[in-house]
Amino acid sequence: MNKLILAASAASMLLGGAAVAETVKVGVVGPFSGPFALQGRNFQAGIEAYMALHGDTVGDDTVEIIYRDVPTPDPAQSAALSRELVVSEGVQYLAGYYFTPDAMAAAPLLEQANVPMVIFNAATSSIVTESPYIVRTSFTLWQTTAPMARVAHDMGFESAITVVSDYGPGLDAEAAFTATFEEEGGDVVDSIRMPISTNDFSPIMQRVKDSGAQVLFAFLPSGPPTLGFVKAYNDNGLEAAGVTMLATGDLTQESDLPVLGEAALGLRTTFHYSVAHESPENEEFVAAASEALGDPALLSFPAVGAFDGMHVIYKMIEATGGEQDAAAAVDAVRGLAWESPRGPVEIDAETRHITQNIYLREVAQAEDGTYYNKEIQTFEMMGDPGLAVTE
Ligand code: PHB
Repeated sequence: MNKLILAASAASMLLGGAAVAETVKVGVVGPFSGPFALQGRNFQAGIEAYMALHGDTVGDDTVEIIYRDVPTPDPAQSAALSRELVVSEGVQYLAGYYFTPDAMAAAPLLEQANVPMVIFNAATSSIVTESPYIVRTSFTLWQTTAPMARVAHDMGFESAITVVSDYGPGLDAEAAFTATFEEEGGDVVDSIRMPISTNDFSPIMQRVKDSGAQVLFAFLPSGPPTLGFVKAYNDNGLEAAGVTMLATGDLTQESDLPVLGEAALGLRTTFHYSVAHESPENEEFVAAASEALGDPALLSFPAVGAFDGMHVIYKMIEATGGEQDAAAAVDAVRGLAWESPRGPVEIDAETRHITQNIYLREVAQAEDGTYYNKEIQTFEMMGDPGLAVTE
């Protein structure tokens, strides 16, 4: 507390003990520069949209956001910056975290520091088991992939090959697709894991062709690599060779669609959020987040993870009256349900992960020529099937 607040507090006590106005700081870690900067900009747009619609105060407390940049997956840098936010800046909440390794690396801090972490993106199932103070408002690869394996079976496909980035969410995607597709009677003929830094996908596309699989199931983290991967699928003639690509929505984030153009048309993906989701809540969100970004074509899913993450943080601040009490803050949002721009959602009381609809979407072209993810089927209120496996 600074002197001014102390003086104000003394005055308010004299005036009858009214609550003291304070600032509650929220530290947000994400990629704000470098190749994944657009994902970080979407975190910021989601935060700014939430604060534009709901104000920057909760009760008597003013919410202040402090950003820290981790451009690419870097656990050491994430741990150091998260610690600095807690120790030097005095943040009461940690939030953001685009990449799994960055969230994992900061998790050991939370209990020591009495700080909750609200994850806006990182999507490996096991992250929430790393600390009782983690709540997640994004999705997991198990959540988005299991429905896609069912879709592959329903489309009549019998054989598939998985191609994933070789780290947490990719391994979850591979496991989820394989387990679910084989449960449905399908056969996964091969599983390819690529270093996260891979950017020449032609040799992989050749292996996919040679495998004879009918379906290529793919996961890569959204950003520059996904653009290259979808292009390589097209340039290497896989469709003509009879290989259908099915993927999670990470491969068709809306900000990629103008660049991919026709190459993405008809591509089917499963995901928790489409910018084209039709609801009054989404309309309001898209308008506010587009304004924050300055260009509606740049909007994609990290913004909705951040927007809903801010909703959770505001509820935590409200429940604790702005006091630093991580256990009480987390308990206050167990079972919290609301209408998100993505559809109905609920924080599972036990896992602290978000329960939500997963949508099958197809890249379609609107009358004005723009491309969008058209929702064509809904898998209602899915929890995280991955937690049963990892716990
Ligand atoms: C992750 O590292 O957990 C991650 C990053 C980007 C995605 C999905 C998962 O699109």
